[in-house]
Order: sequence, then C-alpha cells, then structure tokens
Amino acid sequence: MNVTVVSRSGREIIKGGIELDASATVSDLQRAIHSRIKKLYPARQRLTLPLPPGERRKPVVLSSAKNLSDYSDGNAKSLTVVFKDLGPQVSYRTVCFFEYLGPLVIYPIFYFFPVYKYFGYEEKRVVHPVQTYAMYYWSFHYSKRIMETFFVHRFIHATLHLSNVFTNCAYYWTFGTYIAYYVNHPLYTPVNELQWKIGFGFGLLCQVSNFYCHILLKNLRSSEGSGVYQIPRGFLFNIVTCANYTAEIYQWIGFNIATQTVAGYLFLLAGFVIMSISALGKHRRLKELFDGKEGRPNYPRRWVIFPPFF
Ligand SMILES: NC(=O)c1ccc[n+]([C@@H]2O[C@H](COP(=O)([O-])OP(=O)(O)OC[C@H]3O[C@@H](n4cnc5c(N)ncnc54)[C@H](OP(=O)(O)O)[C@@H]3O)[C@@H](O)[C@H]2O)c1
Repeated sequence: MNVTVVSRSGREIIKGGIELDASATVSDLQRAIHSRIKKLYPARQRLTLPLPPGERRKPVVLSSAKNLSDYSDGNAKSLTVVFKDLGPQVSYRTVCFFEYLGPLVIYPIFYFFPVYKYFGYEEKRVVHPVQTYAMYYWSFHYSKRIMETFFVHRFIHATLHLSNVFTNCAYYWTFGTYIAYYVNHPLYTPVNELQWKIGFGFGLLCQVSNFYCHILLKNLRSSEGSGVYQIPRGFLFNIVTCANYTAEIYQWIGFNIATQTVAGYLFLLAGFVIMSISALGKHRRLKELFDGKEGRPNYPRRWVIFPPFF
C-alpha cells in the first residue's frame, strides 16, 4: 500500500509517499515517518483522514492500534493521510509528577525552616496545632496524587505538549507557595479547635472518597488502557458525572474551613472553575457517546459536578 502523507495545507511531507505492507498498522506508518524524519517520533504525530473540500466537521483521527486498511475504504493500494506535528511531547505522568512535586516539597519548607526571617520576621515562630495538621493534610494530598498518577489512573492520552510542564508547574507551584506562606506565617491566627477539627475531618473523608472514585474510574478501563469511555457507576457516580472532582472540591473546602486564608480560597476558586469547565465537557461527551441510539445505552440523568447547582 502506498501512503501519501500530506500537511494540512496539502503539501506532501514525504516525497513519493511510503510503501507499506497491506496488513500494516497505523503504528507501522508512524514508525516509517519517524525513520524518514528523525525528530518526528510517533507521539509527536497526529494522523487524520482528509476531509472533502468545504467540509467543516472534525476529521477522523487514526488510532495507532488499527490497520491502515481499516481507513482505506476498500482501496488496498493507496491511502492519503493528513499529518500534523504536535510538537515536543512529554509523558502525561511526567507532567503530573512535576506539577505535584512542587507543592509537596515547597509547603514543608515554610513549615520546617526559618524562612520568615528573610521576610523580616526575626522572632521565633510559635507553631499552632492547626498549622501542623495543615502541613500533614497538604503533604498527604499531594503524595496521594503522585501515587495515583503512577499506580491508579489509566490515561488515554499518553503524552502532552512540553509546554504543559511549565504552565501546570507554574499553577501548582505558585499556589503552593502562596498558601504555604500564609498558613505558616508567624502572624497566622488560628480558628477555634472545633472548626479546624471539623474542617480537616470532613476534608479527609472527601480525600478518601476522591481516592475511591479514582479506583472506580480505573476499573472502567482494561489494564492496557484502551481508550474507551464508559458510563461511570457506583458510589457518588450514581448522582454526579464527575464525582472525583466533586470530592476534590469538597476536600479543599474542608482544608479552607480549617485554615481560613485568602490564598487557600483563591486556589479553591481556581480549581473549581478549571474542574467545572472540564466536567461540563466530560458530561457532554458521555451524553453524546451514550445517546440511546442504535443499541447504545442512554446516559442516565445526573448532576455534572456540583449538586444541587449543576
Ligand atoms: N485542584 C485542581 O485544580 C484539580 C484540577 C484537575 C484535577 N484535579 C485532581 O486530579 C484528579 C485527576 O484529574 P483528571 O482531570 O485526570 O481526572 P479525570 O479526567 O476524571 O480522569 C481520571 C482517570 O479516569 C479516566 N476516566 C475518566 N472518565 C472516564 C470514563 N468515563 N471512562 C473511562 N475512563 C475514564 C481518565 O482517563 P482519560 O485521561 O483518558 O480521560 C483518567 O485516567 C481529579 O480527580 C482531582 O482529584 C485537581
């Protein structure tokens, strides 16, 4: 089979095309492109089928596990694919690891080390119990996230653009520093004991719920991580589409009830906005995938992320 590889503007990327076996897979084609153009390793390549002129719908993205013949519409001799360079890629897990490592390391620095003397506070700091519990709560949260990244989540997208390392780290590291600075501050005024105990207790319960939601999501996918989306079911998923996000939001509410800083509430707000946008997209995708047509199940009626509001 001769595969013609063109850019989105129609320019031929590999002159004369690539000759492959009739039984070749998309992955074989990606490797062949890589062998011709060294910088274009498979994760950098996005291959789609060309759209007829004037057509505005989304093009079909070629799945690397499939055979090229699955896309050739009965024509075993030739195929044209549209190539897009996704730019330098980095694994999803690497991005997550570095974005979570920052807050995990930065926060305890403010708790354990005399950093406030560099901000003009010379006196010895009195550490309140709530600050100690906040440090353990925070460290538990980010350790959990790192462990889940490596041992629980089955991501469909293996890689992300390299720039994500910088933007995501900027977000998590900056908020981590901002919150750590104020919660551990020598002039920090704690809330009453009952309040911080309720806050941390509730927050911890939500962290455990969030973990359980991740286990339920993990069980929706086979261990090879096939990219199929299923209807999440069980526990909080029976009422909310993105129950893991709901539990995440509530666990930050718990942290803020206990610690009461503007920095913490701003982080909660930012996380709420980011997760809500993402949750609306996931909810829409599941409703489209499970539309009740041609034997497909109907997506059940559920809240998106934050009952009873949406
Ligand atoms: N504080 C914040 O600002 C913030 C923001 C985002 C996330 N988080 C935390 O990080 C956690 C993970 O975030 P995330 O955005 O990666 O969560 P997510 O999109 O819900 O994904 C978690 C895992 O479940 C898979 N999954 C989700 N829905 C599925 C379905 N219907 N069928 C099969 N598999 C499905 C995902 O696969 P795919 O990757 O293939 O979709 C992924 O492997 C969150 O639960 C939350 O605790 C915090």
